[in-house]
Amino acid sequence: MRKLSASILSAKFGKLAEEVRAVEAGGTDWIHVDVMDGHFVPNITIGPDVVRAINEATALPLDVHLMIEKPERYLEAFVKAGADWLGVHVEVCPHLHRTVQHIKELGARATVVINPGTPLVSIEPILSDVDMILLMTVNPGFGGQQFIRSMLSKVRQCRRMIDALQAQALLEVDGGVNLDTIDDLVAAGVDVFVAGSAVFKGDNYAANIRGLKARMR
Ligand code: DX5
Ligand code: ZN
Repeated sequence: MRKLSASILSAKFGKLAEEVRAVEAGGTDWIHVDVMDGHFVPNITIGPDVVRAINEATALPLDVHLMIEKPERYLEAFVKAGADWLGVHVEVCPHLHRTVQHIKELGARATVVINPGTPLVSIEPILSDVDMILLMTVNPGFGGQQFIRSMLSKVRQCRRMIDALQAQALLEVDGGVNLDTIDDLVAAGVDVFVAGSAVFKGDNYAANIRGLKARMR
């Protein structure tokens, strides 16, 4: 069963709780929350207090994507704030296996995220230990960027790696997911689709979500 994770990076931050409730009513499966520190990525977004507020606004699972340096310092704060899935970038985790174990011990599902320029071999050793692999299909930092088409073969390769190991990890993609790109991603074997601008464009979020989900069947 494929899932849609609506990225609130493209929501109107002045009325975030309302926006979250609107995409929940519109049929998204999860809420994707982008945490940026201005160091690992150029942009700065939100911290645990805002994640807690989002968690209070919705019953949906929170899919939290940490784009921060030294994420191991903040795991507990984000799980306490309500992260159901907590994702760390392989590029900033020298002790990745330990970090993954720590997320699980805290009671959340562990996601490992990799940038477009980072090879899949960097996640191969932990594939059987993680709950989800998130492949970035844009360079992280901003919503509304163009999908990097050369990532499709990386997605297919990652699907093959997961299946070959009979690992339980879900395969998620993030960046440039919209009606022009989703069919190829479905065919490549993606389980979870993050979409920001494709969900929060215009004022009929439910119609945007219905359009995406119709392609995910
Ligand atoms: C980018 C973020 C994404 C972003 C995706 O760094 O990780 O989650 O919101 O936005 P779209 O779907 O507009 O490409
Ligand atoms: Zn994200």
